[in-house]
Amino acid sequence: MSHERPSISVFGLGRVGLCFAACCAHRGFHVIGVDIDEEKLSVIERGEAPFYEPHLQDMLEEAVREGLELTPSAHEAVIRSDISFVTVGTPGGPDGSVDLSQVESACHAIGEALAEKGAWHLVVIRSTVPPGTTGGLVKDVLEGSSGLRCGPDFGLCMNPEFLSEGRAIKGILEPDRIVIGEHDRRSGDALQAFYERFDGDASTRKRILRTSLINAELIKYASNAFLAMKVSFANMMARLCQALPGADVVAVMDGVGLDRRIGRAFLNAGLGWGGSCFPKDLSALLSFAGGLGISLPLVRATIEVNDEQPLVAVELARKALGDLRGKRVAVLGLAFKPDTDDVRGAVSLKVIGALLAEGAEVVAYDPKAVENVRALLGDTIEYAGSALEALRGAHCCILVTEWEEFRALRPEDFGRLMKEPVVIDGRRIFDPEEFEGKVRFFAIGRGPKKAT
Ligand code: UDX
Repeated sequence: MSHERPSISVFGLGRVGLCFAACCAHRGFHVIGVDIDEEKLSVIERGEAPFYEPHLQDMLEEAVREGLELTPSAHEAVIRSDISFVTVGTPGGPDGSVDLSQVESACHAIGEALAEKGAWHLVVIRSTVPPGTTGGLVKDVLEGSSGLRCGPDFGLCMNPEFLSEGRAIKGILEPDRIVIGEHDRRSGDALQAFYERFDGDASTRKRILRTSLINAELIKYASNAFLAMKVSFANMMARLCQALPGADVVAVMDGVGLDRRIGRAFLNAGLGWGGSCFPKDLSALLSFAGGLGISLPLVRATIEVNDEQPLVAVELARKALGDLRGKRVAVLGLAFKPDTDDVRGAVSLKVIGALLAEGAEVVAYDPKAVENVRALLGDTIEYAGSALEALRGAHCCILVTEWEEFRALRPEDFGRLMKEPVVIDGRRIFDPEEFEGKVRFFAIGRGPKKAT
């Protein structure tokens, strides 16, 4: 790798790849972004982010100015770079299967280019792939299409990404950990050298874990399963709290989380987890293990709690209003979490589906994700241009995603605009002391008021 301005190529410019490419350009690398979608390439070439992620737009404008190059040609990208990062999608099927076709075709194209390159090159898999894929399918495809040997002729690493949407840029620039799964020592050394250069910081080494390819793949699945399990645990306790006068899951989790062995992160009870990773990765893990005859009961229970959790909000609405037929329900928040426009696996879709099945009318608002939901649900629901507009004339409001702007809503806003001010706080952003008494207020994980 040249010490002047090392070149990298990034295959697949989705949420992971594009954020990573922009951050690498920001840190002074020459970056070649590769995608088969030429329309997407031309949008990025104009310095426009094709999706919403805080800070990405600015980073991208800078990256394009500073020389982020874009091409549909894998050949050109491999020849002109030292390391190729593969960040293509690995979509999941309903049965937990993982579609590896994009990984396969990117690696096939990289292998063909390697055959002509005549110099050692490092291939790094960043996409989430089932255990064994990098050392199996990926290596076979690269060797088969290049006619070269992994190890002496080219290097191979598995470097899982732990990107959290809404905090992607910060997470890439200041990662908690860097997991390097290596086929051989030379490959691992080359990737470690890249990250040391990326950080320009002596502490990087402490955050790097070097391990085997399969362990790196497993670390990604195990991390997501554990985080999702923490959330489902909080949600399970929330159900218990809801049945107990005076109990409140927020206080309980605050107390539990103070134990440093446990930690407070990912113990926020709500309407469940969604997104592009947790649902897909937990199903994939379950199905992968099932194929080996191994049951993962904690993962199964984590999913089970999560499948039921969105319905808790609908049950609360029913409890407050009785029959929901013809009732107008305002849904605040559609994105699977704040600070993203992503609605993949979003809890909002499950809540809306259940409300429509009960015959309710739904009016929804989200600061960023309305168009993505409209593409899925069309005019089966109404869309509002603001939270206040959504509340007007509604019989019930369900807060589904905790966008910062919703925290500014006061009980008076609900009381003034709604037909019947029934407020269900699905993410625990409102102060119950302030709301109770002014509106009919229900919150996930909060038991009935204790009789005095
Ligand atoms: C997650 C992992 O955090 C990341 O490391 C991995 O690479 C991809 O999956 P992401 O899907 O972007 O990232 O979102 P995250 O912040 O982890 O939240 C996942 C879901 O859990 C969201 O729906 C969120 O609302 C929910 N959640 C999270 C809770 O309900 N309670 C919590 O305490 C934390």
